[in-house]
Amino acid sequence: MAPDVARIWRRLEELASDHRSQTPDSYVLQPDVLRDRTLSVDGLMLDWSLQRLDHDVIESLIELSDAIDLQKRLQRQFAGEIVNPTEQRAALHTAIRDTPTSRRTVNDQLRISRAELRLFAANVLSGRTTGYSGGAFTDVLHLGIGGSHLGQELLCDALGNTRLNIHFLSNSQSKHIQNALVALNPAKTLVIVASKSFTTPETQQNFQHVSNWFAERTGRLDALSSNLVLISSNESVLAGLPGKHFIVPEEVGGRYSVWSAMGLPVLLRIGPEQFEQLLEGANLMDQHVVAAPSSVNAAIMLALLALWNTNFLATTSHTVLSYVAALRWLPGYLQQLEMESLGKSVTVDGEAVSHHTTSVIWGGEETDGQHAWHQWLHQGTHSYSADFIASAEHKTLADVWTLANSLAQHHVTFFGHQDSADPEKNIRGGHGSTLILLDRVNAKAIGMLLALYEHKVACLGYLWNINPFDQWGVERGKVMADEINKALVEPNHTLSNTLLNERVRKILPRQK
Ligand code: F6P
Repeated sequence: MAPDVARIWRRLEELASDHRSQTPDSYVLQPDVLRDRTLSVDGLMLDWSLQRLDHDVIESLIELSDAIDLQKRLQRQFAGEIVNPTEQRAALHTAIRDTPTSRRTVNDQLRISRAELRLFAANVLSGRTTGYSGGAFTDVLHLGIGGSHLGQELLCDALGNTRLNIHFLSNSQSKHIQNALVALNPAKTLVIVASKSFTTPETQQNFQHVSNWFAERTGRLDALSSNLVLISSNESVLAGLPGKHFIVPEEVGGRYSVWSAMGLPVLLRIGPEQFEQLLEGANLMDQHVVAAPSSVNAAIMLALLALWNTNFLATTSHTVLSYVAALRWLPGYLQQLEMESLGKSVTVDGEAVSHHTTSVIWGGEETDGQHAWHQWLHQGTHSYSADFIASAEHKTLADVWTLANSLAQHHVTFFGHQDSADPEKNIRGGHGSTLILLDRVNAKAIGMLLALYEHKVACLGYLWNINPFDQWGVERGKVMADEINKALVEPNHTLSNTLLNERVRKILPRQK
């Protein structure tokens, strides 16, 4: 840690010792607190007035972001510098949203593939592009997992309005495959195989399964090729395969890729107009994040609050409570975005980190959560932080009720409730949280929100000096699964780990 960074870190530790022992009601809120601890970016408001901090903490956190030149690093990232050193790659998801500062070469490439994608989607939607049967498509079956699935399902669910039905198949268990295929007619089904690497086993297994299903149901081996779209960065593998191909630039990471050709199912389900608004919203947030000073920068503030809670107030989990029905899949999406990006213990210099990195990210759709796990939030023993996602837009009184609930839960998690003589009725409170309020729930606002979280993640990567764009930790499990799979299908195959080998031998007879 550079000396000035270490000094600010020590100062934050001193400040935190006071805040850890302060009771929630000692945070007497003055009217200007709301002015000082809220910021708005074009209809998206961030309110961190219910966090366990004061002016001194905020100043030191901002000093920390300035000491590491956080904004300049974001600008260099946007401009296409290598920010993913372990894979020697830039991170250019922002270029897909047409950031003027992005590298020209990549931008040109993107412009061409973007126009091609739009044209293809328009033709599918209008019925001009058909499958082997000559009839218009009614359904889309999307095969893909992780970053090639979560954002797509979230956005299709949030904004879907076209005539096409979308079905997602991510993991390859037979039950899932059966469920996905049961209602589909191959003659009217467009199959999308989305995989950045085009080597992910679950996606490949599903591709194989769906190919067989197509051949069986149609009696034709070539039928699928007219109904097939492949999306990947792996151009050489795609070259030998049938179907329509879209290429995703290597510099666009899987969990940051829904804006690219990977967003085809979204484009098909929400239509070109909303898809444009989605990208415009994300671009708007990009422009804000790359230019606004730290104290009024939504992504930097969100990252600094996460750092304060994780590293100084020792929270171990962060819950995302979505009081916007359209965003019911947001917690799962953020789980991958934040935990795959920031679940790291080695710095970009290859040294062990000296502090915690990301907390567990979890959450759910509200108000269902209130009738399930909020008891834990209010009277459990763990400390956590939270983001409340709510909307001021209301079409019915029930929407107002939902907003009231979000504000109530936000208030109680911080202030608790201590006026009862019965100890089982008291609530400790003291859990810091941020309210993210959307004026409107539409494509633009959702684009802004997802981009905000992407930039929060990048900022935390820079603040913790870790690489938020790689994911080496998941590789070992894949190699092991391959070896164990071999032992499960070929009983003579011996595993080098004795205990594991014995365990497999015990399981083998039960497979019958
Ligand atoms: O295993 C993790 C992961 O590599 C994610 O990073 C990625 O989003 C997902 O698998 C799917 O990968 P692909 O798009 O290459 O199939």
